[in-house]
Amino acid sequence: MDLYLKGKTAVVTGASQGMGRAITKELALEGVKVLAVARNENLLNELKEEVVAAGGVEPVTLVQDLIAMDAPQKIAAAALAELGNVDLLINNAGRSRPLDVVGPEEEWQAALTLDFDRHRQLTQQLLPHFMERKQGSILNIISTYELRTINASAVFKASVVAWSKQLAGELGRLGIRVNCLQPGLIDTENIRRFFPGDERRNFAEREIPLGDFGESQDVANMAIFLLSPRARYITGTVAVVDGGWRHYAF
Ligand SMILES: NC(=O)c1ccc[n+]([C@@H]2O[C@H](COP(=O)([O-])OP(=O)(O)OC[C@H]3O[C@@H](n4cnc5c(N)ncnc54)[C@H](OP(=O)(O)O)[C@@H]3O)[C@@H](O)[C@H]2O)c1
Repeated sequence: MDLYLKGKTAVVTGASQGMGRAITKELALEGVKVLAVARNENLLNELKEEVVAAGGVEPVTLVQDLIAMDAPQKIAAAALAELGNVDLLINNAGRSRPLDVVGPEEEWQAALTLDFDRHRQLTQQLLPHFMERKQGSILNIISTYELRTINASAVFKASVVAWSKQLAGELGRLGIRVNCLQPGLIDTENIRRFFPGDERRNFAEREIPLGDFGESQDVANMAIFLLSPRARYITGTVAVVDGGWRHYAF
């Protein structure tokens, strides 16, 4: 199926590994020129080589710590300079942050910055551009947030959902779509550390109807569809990719 993405441009944060890397690769293979943003330069360079070897459009890379105050301005400026126009924005960088019931203040602040504020601020940097062109597709990678234990990241990912819905309402008439993608448990560095040894298998067999964690590619498959013109009538929604893990009652 042609996703009509060829020739488009995108910004992906957290592109060096995990889901951001898979989304970047998939977009590049569909003919999208991506500004791939993360801190790890080696991984970004490897990604570039991997994409070219696979026949995709070579991404432009930007080494940038999103925690830096001026990161949103720098990323937006680099995107417009390197890509000309930006059609797609994928706010993906983030980190699961389980805390005890109080948790250090610095951890709460860091989660607020990385998992909510930088998504909002980078989007706001690019919004005038999207609004002027009357087009754009924004995808925010969130997380399961209806947890029974404290995780600061999940609290701010819930805020991303509320904000995304508001934004979708404001921007629909301008041809700009805003969606969220909620992964369940996906096998990445971010999550692996919490499920050592047999714990992944035991948890998955007990809790996930499809029997295992997902792969980054599973998320990328949904992401590129939501970003593409094929999803032209989808905005303000949360797409779940979780092997059926989500439930409200037994
Ligand atoms: N894996 C899961 O099961 C799961 C579930 C729910 C939600 N999520 C969410 O999905 C998103 C991607 O997670 P993942 O599992 O793919 O994680 P991952 O494999 O750990 O990748 C995280 C990416 O974010 C980047 N990043 C982290 N902190 C950064 C910072 N300060 N500045 C710039 N880049 C930063 C990392 O790049 P560098 O280290 O190179 O900077 C990396 O590319 C996150 O928002 C995460 O919360 C994941």
